[in-house]
Amino acid sequence: MIVIKTEEEIEKMHEAGKLLADIHKQIKKMIKPGVTTMEINNFVDEYLAEHGATAAQIGYNGYEYATCASINDEICHGFPRNEPLVEGDLVKIDMVVELDGWLADSAWSYAVGEVSDEVKDLMKVTKESLYKGIEKAKIGNRLGDIGNAIQTHVEERGYSVVRDFVGHGIGREIHEGPQVLHYGKAGRGQRITEGMVFTIEPMINVGEYPLVMDENGWTARTKDGELSAQYEHTIAITEDGPIILTNQE
Ligand code: MF3
Ligand code: CO
Repeated sequence: MIVIKTEEEIEKMHEAGKLLADIHKQIKKMIKPGVTTMEINNFVDEYLAEHGATAAQIGYNGYEYATCASINDEICHGFPRNEPLVEGDLVKIDMVVELDGWLADSAWSYAVGEVSDEVKDLMKVTKESLYKGIEKAKIGNRLGDIGNAIQTHVEERGYSVVRDFVGHGIGREIHEGPQVLHYGKAGRGQRITEGMVFTIEPMINVGEYPLVMDENGWTARTKDGELSAQYEHTIAITEDGPIILTNQE
């Protein structure tokens, strides 16, 4: 179900989003060879508690951690772990922050130490594709315009778009309507209207888009073992265009 938000509700979600953006900026400073994703997860737990917020992911369908930490060929929903990150890794940290009952969701890709040109280019193109999608998130456009902009940008550069995970409406619940596909046809799909709040979160692969699930039932990884990157923002649709609620700038 799509739940349209008032200006006041969007403002509350923006507060959750600003906190989330601050956390990502802190994580950026923490990421280096030798650090573990469990240490990052513990930092997030503490930071949220200190700021009167909670991790909406904990308890969601039985998920146990504040963050998802997905490394290299892992596409999404990796578990934080005690194994140190190593030079050259590409790690994606994803989390949903809850503040005063309102949520914001943002994932970011991080390079661990010095990374290959392949990692650098994948990160660059994936981030660009997110912003190409956001540009299309305007009243009167359709959701297919967002998906098409993302797909066109990445496929022109030889990458593929993961199909099995999509963006989503968000508010008091993590996953509300609509579903926001990161591929599709311009001019198709649901009309974008004022007060919608949803995520755009392209997962982009160096190789092909098919994935396999780990035995833990959560973690998706590329079937061909190639790298995957992701950037995600929560955005609100307003008369003045999209507002990035999780903006780090
Ligand atoms: N941003 C993630 C998503 O939309 C958060 C999922 S919550 C989790 O898929 F519990 F599944 F991690
Ligand atoms: Co999400």
